[in-house]
Order: sequence, then C-alpha cells, then structure tokens
Amino acid sequence: MSESTTIRWEQDETGVVTLTFDDPNQSANTMNQAFKDSIAAVADRAEAEKDSIRGIIYASAKKTFFAGGDLKDMIQVGPEHAQQAFDTGTSIKAALRKIETLGKPVVAAINGAALGGGYEIALASHHRIALDAPGSKIGLPEVTLGLLPAGGGVTRTVRLMGIADALLKVLLQGTQYSPQRALENGLVHEVAATPEEMLAKARAFIDANPESHQPWDVKGYKIPGGTPSNPRFAANLPAFPANLKKQTGGANYPAPRNILAAAVEGSQVDFETALTIEARYFTELVTGQVAKNMIQAFFFDLQAVNSGASRPKDVERRKVRKVAVLGAGMMGAGIAYSCARAGIEVVLKDVSPEAAAKGKAYSEKLLAKALGRGRTTEAKRDELLARITPTADPADLAGCDAVIEAVFEDTGLKHKVFQEIQDIVEPDALLCSNTSTLPITGLAEGVSRPVDFIGLHFFSPVDKMPLVEIIKGERTGDEALARAFDLVRQIKKTPIVVNDSRGFFTSRVIGNFINEGVAMVGEGIEPASIEQAAAQAGYPAKVLSLMDELTLTLPRKIRLETKKAVEAAGGTWPGHPSDAVIDRMVDEFKRPGRSGGGGFYEYGEDGRRTRLWPGLREHFTKPGTEIPFRDMQERMLFSEAIDTVRCFEEGVLTTVADANIGSIMGIGFPAWTGGVIQYINGYEGGLPGFVARARELAAAYGERFEPTALLVEKAEKGEKFTDA
Ligand code: NAI
Repeated sequence: MSESTTIRWEQDETGVVTLTFDDPNQSANTMNQAFKDSIAAVADRAEAEKDSIRGIIYASAKKTFFAGGDLKDMIQVGPEHAQQAFDTGTSIKAALRKIETLGKPVVAAINGAALGGGYEIALASHHRIALDAPGSKIGLPEVTLGLLPAGGGVTRTVRLMGIADALLKVLLQGTQYSPQRALENGLVHEVAATPEEMLAKARAFIDANPESHQPWDVKGYKIPGGTPSNPRFAANLPAFPANLKKQTGGANYPAPRNILAAAVEGSQVDFETALTIEARYFTELVTGQVAKNMIQAFFFDLQAVNSGASRPKDVERRKVRKVAVLGAGMMGAGIAYSCARAGIEVVLKDVSPEAAAKGKAYSEKLLAKALGRGRTTEAKRDELLARITPTADPADLAGCDAVIEAVFEDTGLKHKVFQEIQDIVEPDALLCSNTSTLPITGLAEGVSRPVDFIGLHFFSPVDKMPLVEIIKGERTGDEALARAFDLVRQIKKTPIVVNDSRGFFTSRVIGNFINEGVAMVGEGIEPASIEQAAAQAGYPAKVLSLMDELTLTLPRKIRLETKKAVEAAGGTWPGHPSDAVIDRMVDEFKRPGRSGGGGFYEYGEDGRRTRLWPGLREHFTKPGTEIPFRDMQERMLFSEAIDTVRCFEEGVLTTVADANIGSIMGIGFPAWTGGVIQYINGYEGGLPGFVARARELAAAYGERFEPTALLVEKAEKGEKFTDA
C-alpha cells in the first residue's frame, strides 16, 4: 500500500473515516497521478480495515469539492493514444467501486463546485449533501467540451434517475446546477446551510444506515423508467435522436451521439460492462478533433480572454459604483438590468420619464419570470430594482463613474447626448458607446475627453448573451481600455478586445455569412436547402431567418453608407451578389423582414415564422439549380473565416483567443469548430488544405473566396495561424 499524498485519512473514535481531498501542489483537486495513487491506497486500506469502519465521508479542504480531469493532458490525446485513453480512469473507477461496495455507508460532503469528475466521485457515494455556497455548481458539463463523463458518470446517472432523465437533465445539455436546483432535480439528496450542518447530516446518514448499498447493487434492482428492452420505453426511444437533431441542427457534434449510445447500450448490461462501454465511447471522443477544438475554445481560449490577456497590465483594477445608461430602449434596458444584477447603481436616462420607466419595466419583467421559476427571492428582486433609477433629467447623472450610451444609431444624436451629460458625471468617468457599427474614433470626436471614450458592444438579448466586444478608438487610452475590461468582468460577461473599424469584428464578419446565404437565393438555389445547409454546418440560427430578424433594410443602409465612404476616399466598392436580392426584396416585393410584416419567411399574427415565402420560388428559384451541399456549408464558413483573417491583416484583431471566442459567442460561428481561427488551423490538410480549398471556392463562386496574402504566406511556411 503506497502512501496517500492527496487524500487525508482521519478516523474518529466512533469509526467514521473522513477522506479529505487536499492536493498539496494545486489550488484545486484533480484526477492527476498523485490522486490515482492516493485513491487506490485508501480503497485498499478501507477494505483491509473494513471491520473497524462505521462509515466513510468524502470531503475537500479546497474551495471547490473536486475539479475533475486534467484538460491540459486531454487536449494532447491523439488517435495513437487510444489504448492509453481507454485505460486512463480504470484504476480510479476500480478504487471508487471498491469503496462503494464495502457495504458501509459512503457520504459525499460537497462543499463547493462538483463538476465533471468531482460529481462522478459524489455519484459513487450512497448519499450526497451539498453546501449551499454562493456560486457553487454541480453537474456533468463534459458534453460542452465535446466529451462524455467516463468516470462512471453515464453509467451511474442512468441507474440513478433512468435513461430519459439522465440524458435530458444531466448528460446532453451539461447543465450546471446550483445546490438548490441540484436537489430539485435529484442530483443530490440534501442541501446544508453551513459546513457544520453538512457534517451533522453526513453523520446522521451513517448512524441511520449502518449497512448501505447503491440502489443498483441491491438484488432485484431495475432502472427507473425501464430500458429499451421494455416495449413502452422502446416506443419512446426514437424521439431521442430527433431531439438530438433539434439540439445540434444535425451538425457535427459527436459527443451527444456517443452519450446517447453509451446510456442506451449501458442500460442493457451489467454495471461493469456499462463502464467499459462508457470508456469506449469516451475514447472515440477524446482522440477526435472536435473535442480538441471545444476544449481549446471553451477552456483555454475562454480563460485567456477572461483573465485579461488583452488588458493593459499596469493599470490598477477599479470597480464601477454608479453607471449612467443613456437610452432605455431594447439594449439600454438590458444593459441596465445586467449592471444592477452585478450590484452597480444604475441611472437609466431616456427622453421622457415614461420612456425611462418603460426601460426599467423590462427588469421587472425579467425578475417576475425568475421569481416564478424560483431563481430569485422577493427580497433580491426588490434590492435589484431599487438600484435602477429611471429619469429624463440629466442632473440625476451626477456621481456616475461610467456612462454607457445606447440611443439610436446616429452619430449626431450620440454626440448630442454625450455633450449633454459630460460635465455632470464624474470628471474622469469612463465614456462608452454601445454602437453596433459606427466607428469609435469618429464618435469620440464629439466628447471633450476622447482618451476616456471606448466602444462597448453588447449583444441582444443582453441578459442572456455572454459576450461584450470592447472597441478601442484611435485616441482611446490604456486606462479606459483597462477600466472597460474590468467593467465587463464586473458584470460577469466575457470581453474581447478589438481595434476600431466599421462593424468592428463581429458585426462585420457575420455579414459575410448572411450575404452568402442571400447570394445563394439569387443563384436560384432552393431556399429550404440553404437553411438546411446552415443548420447542418452547426450555425445556431438559419441564415435567411436571421436576415429577417435583423431586417433587410439594415444591411442595405450600412452598405450604401459604406459604399459612399469608400468612394469618397477614392476607392471602388466591390459589391456583393446578395445586393440585388436584398434590393428586390425591399423595393419590388416590400418584404423588409419580420418586423416589417415578412421577409424571406411569412409570419403568423403572433409573430412566429410560419413558412418560407412562396414568392421566393416564383421569383428566384431555378428548379434544378444545385451545388454540392458541402460547398453551400463551406461558402458560409469560409466567407467568415477569410474575412476574420483580413481583420488580423488590418489590425482589427490581434489575438486568436479573441477571434475564436468572439466568433462562437458573438456571432454563432459553429461551436464544434472551436472558433473561426481554430477552424482554419484544424482544416483538413492544415493551412495548405484551407488555402487550396479557398482557391477552389474562388474559382467556382467568386473572388471573395481568394485566400489573403497572410494566409498564403503562413501556408507556404507550414505555420499555423497565431496571434498578430
Ligand atoms: P432602441 O430604438 O430600442 O432604443 C433607443 C432608445 O434611445 C429609445 O428608447 C429612445 O427613446 C432613446 N433615445 C433617443 N434619443 C435619446 C436622448 N436624447 N436621450 C436619451 N435617450 C434617447 O434601440 P436599440 O436597439 O436599443 O439600440 C441602441 C443602440 O445599440 C444603437 O446604437 C444600436 O446600433 C446598438 N446596438 C443594437 C443591437 C440590437 O440588437 N438592437 C445590438 C448591439 C448594439
């Protein structure tokens, strides 16, 4: 028996053994080699000393209960390491199984986050108690990294709650539950208010259950809700692949597929065989490219972005106390809510007290919904609402240390509202504009302190969308950039940092996707196929329906303005094949989009999409016009990828992490790719493969697909795309 280095064994006089996870070399407990050795050692000791043990408590000395597998290792696992990957968790699973089947009560005292591997340890206990600590999360989020929980997570959740609940509540969405919601959904048995109460409950369980077994280790056990061999269950099974398709649009997401297979196949065999099946499906995922893409984006890139890789280092951190939000429309109302939720005082200003109050009413509506779902309390709702002061009087903005402007998209108006308030707010207040397209440098000309002026581009709906694009104007100072960054983190959103240009990064790049879809309508391709291609490529919104939401008049207005600006500067405007389609839709057919009564789609009285507008087939579709489905998808993906590279060439973007995170979280670039630059780097054949394919697309569909100079240069040197 080797010495246990990451687990402390403490046995009290009544025979209760507390196993405390406490890795001396890390801030969180992970499934590293030291843990593997330790858990094997304590399992052997528990078996050997079984007669003197009355019960076992798993506990943690860290802030979190247990963090899970090491993603730094997992991202390195190639197909050649398949056997190793298959064997990875074997010894840990065997040790947990040994303790689980001793016949003695085993309790997990979950003091903080228990996600992935951490919750799998808890699942190997007979009783799970969670401490109601703020921010504490419980669940199996592996699917969001393109993986499945292979530490017994699939096998045990299926046996704990039945296949349907395990899939829908835990495995397929990777939901992270608060302790209270984990209790409601059957992930834990009890919630405790204090560590002392948690310990008392753990002991009470041990006292009441001198002998204890998992339900599935008791003779006669049946999986709740039945298994596919039961005819009633089998009749419902076909609905699952359909649900999966709905969730992924039929796109390239192997993890949900493998989770479904592991759950269904594992439910029909004994426990040990189910663990083997789970491990096999995991191996397939961890050695594949999609999991690597998703781990890179949702773990490493996200960490880089949130930890401030793009934030000036030598500026001290500051918190905003009181923010002025100018304009209480759709965006202003959402921004006010997000700031108040983070504890910031908000003065919400519009042209009339009524308009301002309407903006505050949006927070009331969101909070009423949250209250109805048990996500907040009346006291918390009242506190949050008390932080929002609606007004039409500029004098109420006194004392604000930050301003976020969200009035109509009009340079003159934006200048005017800043002039009205700049001498009233704090003399060094941070000045932000939520413009979605107007260059920040130009807007800064309208304020007395351009050095403190910056773009803060939120996405709609603000309360749900996690990303904020920070835009540095030519005269924006480092201090303003750092403060804007800190403000975004203060309201718990993810900031990417870009340099000024029309449309910045996100609004500009998403335009390519939409234009490509619309251009295909003009070529005569069946509109339903175009929508299908976007869904199967993995875009969360279909391309023509997205165009309808944004309204067709908006890109037209931007196009005409940009054309004017380019021509005024002596350039030539290249135009796009989508232009003619949009012009006809707006001018000839009077179909400007959903808010204008209809666009590419028709809408019912409740505003819901009913069907594609039949006129499209009459006026645009040329029956028999077909291009390969792969070309349709890649025209959308490549048009965005190539323009992103241009953003690097023009200095709009400087880091790969900003590009990857911004593309997935801001504009719906398919998550399986790991983001737009990871898509280029990971393309079949690497950069040379991407360049060759871009040339093929250019030859077939137009110059806009020509690879840029930077792409060609990197491909020739055999390099990957890296930070500028
Ligand atoms: P909106 O039309 O819903 O709201 C604009 C609000 O500004 C109205 O309530 C209006 O009464 C108010 N306003 C006008 N003049 C004012 C003044 N002098 N003082 C105070 N308030 C005044 O517009 P929305 O959609 O909220 O957009 C606002 C800004 O956010 C625009 O610059 C837009 O480009 C940008 N944006 C919009 C996004 C969207 O999805 N709608 C996404 C990201 C940015």
